[in-house]
Amino acid sequence: MTHRTITLLTALLVSLLLPATTVAEDYPPTGPRLKSLADLVDFDIGYASRYNFREQANATLYEQIVKAEFNIVTPENSVKWENVHPDRNRYDFQDMDDLVTFAQQQNMVLHGHPLLWYNQNPAWLDTLAPAEVEAAMVDHIQTVVGRYKNSIAIWDVVNEGLEDTANGGGLRDNIWLQAMGEAYIVKAFEEARRADPDAILVYNDYDVGTLTQKSQEMYDRVSGWVAAGVPIDAVGLQMHVTANFTQYEEFSDNMQRYVDLGLDVYITEFDVKALSVEDYIPQADVYEGVLRRCLAEPRCQAFQIWGIDDLNSWQPFFDPLPFDDEFKIKPAYYGMQRALSTRVLNLEQGAELVGFSVEAGALRRTADEAWVSLPDVDLTPNFQRMTLRYAAATAGNTVELRAGSIGGAVLKSIELPATGTASSYAVVEAEFDSAGESPNLVVVANTDDAATSALSLDWIQFSAPTISLVGSGNGTGSGSGSVGWLTLGNLTLWALLVAGTRRRCRRGNSQSRSDS
Ligand code: G3I
Repeated sequence: MTHRTITLLTALLVSLLLPATTVAEDYPPTGPRLKSLADLVDFDIGYASRYNFREQANATLYEQIVKAEFNIVTPENSVKWENVHPDRNRYDFQDMDDLVTFAQQQNMVLHGHPLLWYNQNPAWLDTLAPAEVEAAMVDHIQTVVGRYKNSIAIWDVVNEGLEDTANGGGLRDNIWLQAMGEAYIVKAFEEARRADPDAILVYNDYDVGTLTQKSQEMYDRVSGWVAAGVPIDAVGLQMHVTANFTQYEEFSDNMQRYVDLGLDVYITEFDVKALSVEDYIPQADVYEGVLRRCLAEPRCQAFQIWGIDDLNSWQPFFDPLPFDDEFKIKPAYYGMQRALSTRVLNLEQGAELVGFSVEAGALRRTADEAWVSLPDVDLTPNFQRMTLRYAAATAGNTVELRAGSIGGAVLKSIELPATGTASSYAVVEAEFDSAGESPNLVVVANTDDAATSALSLDWIQFSAPTISLVGSGNGTGSGSGSVGWLTLGNLTLWALLVAGTRRRCRRGNSQSRSDS
């Protein structure tokens, strides 16, 4: 079955079955499973697995859900020192081994978490002299990473090594820093690389997803490690956010600067605080909006939620997850389903660029005549919702989507409000009718005159047309909130096959991503 057919069939499923959800409902949800949508675009959608997950109330339903919905898994607690290295000369791999077996049976990618942290360490560590601490760290990393060398593909090597800004910032005090200084971080990455040269090595932290003082400090330190040749492959942005999250442009800009360092990005512990049921609609929009931004960034490799059900969340009082206390489906689930049903065109991956240069993962206009041709973009919708991310110093710019060639039919012309500079990004949304199948899409940037030419185009994200029944848009998602969405009007399916690549980390069967 060709990729195109699969996409068409999935789009049919999406367009015919997407639900209108107004209340929590029993599993399974309507519409496609998250994993089936993610696999179509070679993306990792995951969760954090509970310690002893088989020994819990609702164990059968829990297992049914995680098997059906996710293709990557992180142990929430199983491989933290207090559980896996409880005594100086004793390791206990039972729970982690069980999760590895389960994940391999389900063909899930395993994301190890963490090798070093300031928290959940066993008491015996505090009894060691500094030199013994380094030896214990080396032994732990070599033993644990070595044991899972052919199974755990990604490791959070150092977790939360930075102090909160409110506490003065800098490196967070912990037993590793006391014993070795900042060098502990470099040593940890070097030991992890030595133990498993193929693993993706991550620095993971929280409150660093948008442009904050702490995220700036993290970026500065990570840049230094990269410049010094520290074997770091990616950053983990935990993204424990709130239902009133709106900093989507900062989030995209933050990801881009790590990509510019040559790093991948993982959304490692996503959840969204809701203060009441009334927050479930904006909560769903934030799930959709952040996931859409990750999908729009070719090197955002995975989006992982920190647990699946509110009752067993680390912060249960905030109902932060897509399943409620009784494992009923919340609107946030459908936010992820909507996001995973989008397709993105990263314009810098266009086959032919005229009047544009590629800068920081986007197209920067360099001449009055500016257009980009994208091959294999197969739009066959009757009408289509699109979100364009751009930056325009002044008003006077429009973008046209043309079918097939520079002289092709104009599918849509969109006015771009000024954003202030050619690197201050915003999104503009539009719906448009396509003239049917067009093997190429040409995106043309028109300007009133040379004076208005400071313009950047980042990406276009296509989503199914929606009728927003409740909930205000977040400027990034479909704006249909948690009521879900109905694709009204002509339900014929639409599909978008786009060229493009994204590296994906699958142990043993590395594959180039087939989307842009
Ligand atoms: O397993 C024991 C159980 O036997 C005992 O009866 C019970 C009561 O004491 O405790 C259970 O262990 C708890 C464990 O979660 C499993 O539920 C620990 O006390 C408790 O401290 C631990 O909390 C974890 C927390 O990290 C520790 O700070 C959460 O589950 C876990 O979700 C949370 O995850 C962290 C990430 O690792 C790093 N980023 C932040 C995130 C949230 O804090």
